[in-house]
Amino acid sequence: MKRKRLEAAADFLRRKAGGDLDAAIVLGSGFGGVLRERIDGGTVPYGKIEGMPEPTVPGHAGEAHIGTLHGRRVVAFSGRFHLYEGRATHDVIYPVAAAAHAGAKTVVLTNAAGGVNTGFHTGDLMLIADQLNLTGTSPLLGAALLPGQEQRFVDMVDAYSPGLRKLARHVAGEYGISLQEGVYAGLLGPTYETPAEARYLRRIGADAVGMSTVLETIAARALGREVIGFSLITNVHGAGAPTSHEEVIAAAAAAAENVARLIEGLVANL
Ligand code: HPA
Repeated sequence: MKRKRLEAAADFLRRKAGGDLDAAIVLGSGFGGVLRERIDGGTVPYGKIEGMPEPTVPGHAGEAHIGTLHGRRVVAFSGRFHLYEGRATHDVIYPVAAAAHAGAKTVVLTNAAGGVNTGFHTGDLMLIADQLNLTGTSPLLGAALLPGQEQRFVDMVDAYSPGLRKLARHVAGEYGISLQEGVYAGLLGPTYETPAEARYLRRIGADAVGMSTVLETIAARALGREVIGFSLITNVHGAGAPTSHEEVIAAAAAAAENVARLIEGLVANL
């Protein structure tokens, strides 16, 4: 990862936000627009940000909302980069790395995920307590450390900040939003899991499964940032009947609003 590019991207983010960032938010599938109208600032296409890869997946718009949210300077990335698109790990983590270089101390990650915990239901929101990186790769591979990374070996205990999780539970309680909490398994994709894979994931301790997030968390921790993550459960493996697309879309729309309120409440209390 080129330090110069990252610095140029960070300078741009700072300029747009009016100073060092406080937080970065990554919006997963279905969450695209949720923070746009809440952030007092502007929206820029990824093309305007130095070094940013171009998104290819529909539903991942590829724009950054930059400004203030409850007095905190934030960037919300709408559109992310995935390994299943054939992306390099450094493309996947670029938005998080750029925001970290612009000063963001907190990284909020959101995603859509399948439930492998059979107690979960479509439309549930899960606070990520921990992760299983099953992608078979890491953004920290290579001779050089990431720009801004101080140590080769990165501790991953409490990768998802206990303090931020407590705050999230508190905010959710205040707003009457129910939250599951569990382990997110990040896989390569792009296939969804076979029933055998879903059973395997459950047995090794996963509650939800998806194709993003884990590398971003690793990068954020390597750069010394605090991470919090939310998974919207769009389908539950082993639930018997296939979930209807309409149901998933409706659940996503309802949950997206809750996610926006949660993030707003969190950011206000940073
Ligand atoms: N598996 C992997 N990724 C997903 C799923 C799933 O079931 N649902 C949404 N994203």
